[in-house]
Amino acid sequence: MNAENMNANEKLMMPRRAFVRGLTALGLLPLAGTSGLASEPPDAPAAGGLQNWPAGDDPHYWSWIRQQFSMPPDEAYFNTGTLGACPRPVLDAVVDSMRDLEKTIARYDYRPEHPEYIAGYRPQEELRKKAGGILNATGGEIALVQNATMAINFISNGLDLKSGDEVLLTDQEHPGALGPWDLRAKRQGIVVRKLPIPVPTPDPETVVKIFAGALGPRTKVIAVPHIISRHGIVMPVRELCDLGRARSVFTLIDGAQAVGQLRVDVKKIGCDAYACSPHKWLLAPPGNGLLYVRQDRQRDIWATLASAHWNDYEPATGLFRLMQFGTANAALLAGLDAALDFYLRIGPEKIERRIIGLADHLRAGLQKIKGVTITSPLHPALAGAMVTYGVAGATGRELQDELWNRKKIRVREQGGPLVRQSVHLYNSPEEIEGTLEVARLLAANKP
Ligand SMILES: Cc1ncc(COP(=O)(O)O)c(C=O)c1O
Repeated sequence: MNAENMNANEKLMMPRRAFVRGLTALGLLPLAGTSGLASEPPDAPAAGGLQNWPAGDDPHYWSWIRQQFSMPPDEAYFNTGTLGACPRPVLDAVVDSMRDLEKTIARYDYRPEHPEYIAGYRPQEELRKKAGGILNATGGEIALVQNATMAINFISNGLDLKSGDEVLLTDQEHPGALGPWDLRAKRQGIVVRKLPIPVPTPDPETVVKIFAGALGPRTKVIAVPHIISRHGIVMPVRELCDLGRARSVFTLIDGAQAVGQLRVDVKKIGCDAYACSPHKWLLAPPGNGLLYVRQDRQRDIWATLASAHWNDYEPATGLFRLMQFGTANAALLAGLDAALDFYLRIGPEKIERRIIGLADHLRAGLQKIKGVTITSPLHPALAGAMVTYGVAGATGRELQDELWNRKKIRVREQGGPLVRQSVHLYNSPEEIEGTLEVARLLAANKP
């Protein structure tokens, strides 16, 4: 079979390099193009393509990246903390996959060599390997699930815990990270302790001390966010996992906000499990989730959803056991695959540097405005690309609406006086300046 006759689902099953070679031979990709990116702008450097594009703050580079997204150029999107925008190559991968399925559905013959047209029944080894790569995990240590909530539920429900066993959380969990433990508390009597994290959080040591002081003989699990969603606090997860490991406490990190924002290395963090939602900072289509469980802790986790392979403990299949959710949409996996390509092609380090730089610009500007309060941490070890703040005299809703009505800047209000501004690679220094202008104006007009 050649690439021309393949549908997107078949392509997903094919080793990436062979697929790209096929497309290039057919003239469907530029020679430099293993990138999954849409065509370069006319003023792109002639030689070397994206590979040799100037790094860092070159305005052409980032404005070209911005052109890969479907939002109108005058709209500034700062709500990746809720949902990332998909770049065009990702959107195309999803739509093409669905179109191909509908055109060729009658050819689906269930033979093992025929590509699967639905997700939920095959181990998807190639994609798990690629996804694992960005976390420094093996493919066998990754389950493809549907979001962080599902991943966290699989851990909370899958662990053998009994009445009186304690789980340590923060007092600032997202409901998708709190509900799974509260459910077990109500049903089986485990004890959920929500440790108060000060806002603003002064330094990592304060957080570590809070957890060290709460650990006791009944503690069986530490489950914390890598980045707390409301105030964007980057937690000292490595130190917290060190605490857990020293006492054989299971550690689960909720990385819904972290993967794609910061570089994540689960081996360096030393956690037993890590959950994430690639539809946020990795810019994958909604409906994708990743769950990592380190190989030597996988036997501690029972399956929650059971189908043919729920009891498959073959080392070769790894966490396929936790992917038993029945029929799902293969197009979303095609989108995840394309999102991983997009992320890797630009480079995790480059993305992190760019967006933390922009968020620092925002933090520095806000700090200079009298009447602005920043509740996100300013300590560099705790500060990421999400900044939560308020302007005296305005509610969060008013601030959100002023930013939109004056500058088409979309942030998300956080209740009370606060808004959260999530800075990603489609944002620009001009958009940050626009934000500061509105904040200055509001602060000047309020008592
Ligand atoms: C820290 C954190 N955990 C978990 C979730 C739940 O993510 P999802 O709805 O993708 O499962 C979110 C969503 O915003 C979050 O911010």
